[in-house]
Amino acid sequence: MKDKNLLPLIMVHDVDYVYSNGTVALKQVSLNINLGEFIAIMGQNGAGKTTLIRTFNGLIRPTKGSIFIEGENIDSKTIATISKRVGIIFQNPMHQLFSNTIEDEIKFSLKNLDLDKEEIQIKVDQILQEFDLEKYRKRSPLTLSGGESKKLAIASIICRDPDILVFDEPTLGQDAKEINFLLGLIKNELERGKTIIIVTHNIEFTVEHVPRTILMGGGHIIADGPTQNIFTNEFLISKSSLIMPQIYLFKQELQKIGITVPKEVIRENELVNFLDNYFVSKSTNLSEGNQ
Ligand SMILES: Nc1ncnc2c1ncn2[C@@H]1O[C@H](COP(=O)(O)OP(=O)(O)OP(=O)(O)O)[C@@H](O)[C@H]1O
Ligand SMILES: [Mg+2]
Repeated sequence: MKDKNLLPLIMVHDVDYVYSNGTVALKQVSLNINLGEFIAIMGQNGAGKTTLIRTFNGLIRPTKGSIFIEGENIDSKTIATISKRVGIIFQNPMHQLFSNTIEDEIKFSLKNLDLDKEEIQIKVDQILQEFDLEKYRKRSPLTLSGGESKKLAIASIICRDPDILVFDEPTLGQDAKEINFLLGLIKNELERGKTIIIVTHNIEFTVEHVPRTILMGGGHIIADGPTQNIFTNEFLISKSSLIMPQIYLFKQELQKIGITVPKEVIRENELVNFLDNYFVSKSTNLSEGNQ
């Protein structure tokens, strides 16, 4: 038997997906995702990002090719079985919220997990508290704001504790406080050994926080590698209808006044450290020169 630890957690092998109207949304997509990774999937509208992640829990089945989780082809498994391991939080939370109250939404999510009534109640209380949704407990999900319903959608998946969490556009429409909350949550899940995949158009978020980026275009993967390499490649970025990160533009301005920042510096704290060192060494040189 193959050693599970040596296999990629998710293996997408030569996958095509064609919608019933004939749209080819995925074409020859292959990629491996390892346990504990944090990955961003990016690319222009209609690139195939959402279609790709919908294959991860069997919501749609590849027209050609296969998806393996820990080496097992998921083709013969039900969505319910796969969903215990793979939790997907969709772009529009209203597509995944069905219950009459917020409390019931979490309870519904915890069904079929072999928990007794008491355990379910404890978990519901815990998760509502953690997500600051306690005060809305008896309200209908339909009465929540866009940001709040997104939070509830995340809570309703996280409470099931899946190993793999997939977010479609998690930062879209969220204010700075909620984005920070999301980031804290992701970091916490990563520390617990979870694997996180986000589909996003948020360049600054990816550059700042996500180590690996997969770029998609026209149903294909057009690049896959360290975020640092992707977002310093102007050709790739313009090919994907993205723009270079703010920090890259700032580095160009610094270059104009004679400060060359190394290519690999793409995060805010890295730039701050570089500039700190740069000015310290410059002032040391000046004072030595004056002696
Ligand atoms: N249910 C559907 N029926 C037919 N075609 C679809 C369906 N859903 C998506 N498509 C098409 O498949 C292609 C890929 O769509 P997908 O939603 O995966 O793109 P995306 O990369 O997630 O885009 P966005 O950034 O706009 O969310 C697009 O051409 C889209 O029009
Ligand atoms: Mg999409």
